[in-house]
Amino acid sequence: MMSAAAGGTRPTGTCRVCEGTVVEFLDLGRQPLSDRFLSEPDLAGEFFFHLSVGVCEACTMVQLMEEVPREKMFHEDYPYYSSGSSVMQKHFAHTARRFLETELTGPDPFMVEIGSNDGVLLRTIHEAGVRHLGFEPSGKVADVARAGGLRVRGDFFEESTAVEVRAAEGPADVIYAANTICHIPYLKSVFQGVDALLAPDGVFVFEDPYLGDILEKTSFDQIYDEHFFFFTARSVQAMAGRFGFELVDVERLPVHGGEVRYTIARAGARRPAGSVARLIAEEEDRRVASPERLGRFAADVNGIRDDLLALLRRLKAEGKRVVAYGATAKSATVTNFCGIGPELVSWVCDTTPTKQGRLTPGAHIPVRPAEAFSASAADYALLFAWNHADEIMAKEQEFRRAGGRWILYVPRVHVES
Ligand code: SAM
Ligand code: TMP
Ligand code: ZN
Repeated sequence: MMSAAAGGTRPTGTCRVCEGTVVEFLDLGRQPLSDRFLSEPDLAGEFFFHLSVGVCEACTMVQLMEEVPREKMFHEDYPYYSSGSSVMQKHFAHTARRFLETELTGPDPFMVEIGSNDGVLLRTIHEAGVRHLGFEPSGKVADVARAGGLRVRGDFFEESTAVEVRAAEGPADVIYAANTICHIPYLKSVFQGVDALLAPDGVFVFEDPYLGDILEKTSFDQIYDEHFFFFTARSVQAMAGRFGFELVDVERLPVHGGEVRYTIARAGARRPAGSVARLIAEEEDRRVASPERLGRFAADVNGIRDDLLALLRRLKAEGKRVVAYGATAKSATVTNFCGIGPELVSWVCDTTPTKQGRLTPGAHIPVRPAEAFSASAADYALLFAWNHADEIMAKEQEFRRAGGRWILYVPRVHVES
């Protein structure tokens, strides 16, 4: 469908939450699976889809226009291991301890995590002797958690699987998800599952990249196949209400470039904290989901592409050695949207063994181990893992001392001096 609603004729779709009309505001073109790292024989059959993002005129939910089948993204070889960052390990240990001190103090409490990955959060719950269950459909990451003694079910969380767990194990006091709810287009089924599994006074808590921060930082690389939704307090409040729940607390988090943790309870079960109304008022002031603001974001994204390409081409012409740091899922959007391949960035280093020796999705930049970086004597390093900048720059101080310079493209293209 096409619409003339938001200035000019734009493609439209149907909102996955409220069935209102979604109007596209940014087209990022033909994109690969962001976490599919390739060997030479895989190149011929590489999967591509059309990555574009729109806003629902009715409920303001920002979402992708096209859905990638979940089994193509989350499978046996899904390569993202949450424990790869020490900052994130601390974040999740702290989060788990807070749940242990607040929501999990009754007799025989039960915590369920959606997208438990390698067990980075549940391990603290397990060590405290609290009953837990992870839902993790990606095979190898789930096996890491199981090897650590955690209980993990290898299924997607949705209504049918949640109903089974409720019948077998009773109600959950906490259902938690980090960087996972925004990955799930079928949220109605997820809320039906939460309804089936959550105790009457339990909480459903999830944290995901915050649209307010994405706009502020022009971090368009948060948009890729796995990130289907871009939440605000307002859109989450509307969604919760629609499914019989209520948004009762929000907390801004510094991780992954800026996130919000949303706490949801059954409608009327808990009194909403003042933080909810405050954040919604701030979003209104900033006109976060307005067509004008989103249109400005789209224009800024095109500006970043032009500036980044111009910089990399100039450095190449000057004969500089340019590499990249962190083969992130986010970098698939940057490289494929901007047209950056190995001719501009020779290789990218990453600590994840299953990414090493492979080629990045779509752009086919070789991935090398982190040790290659210290040995490289590169002149410039494009920091794809900019959300881990403090951690990475702290351990790579030698690069700077030897004259190396970091290139960042968030919130604008610049070379760190
Ligand atoms: N929670 C971890 C973190 O914050 O680092 C992992 C986040 S990872 C980006 C998203 C995880 O969600 C993947 O491990 C994926 O397999 C899992 N996932 C995707 N859809 C899911 C679903 N419907 N139910 C449970 N897990 C899901
Ligand atoms: P993320 O931004 O989605 O968390 O992905 C970060 C990627 O960067 C992941 O592939 C691991 C990698 N990485 C490093 O190579 N070195 C590091 O120090 C950190 C923190 C991450
Ligand atoms: Zn909607």
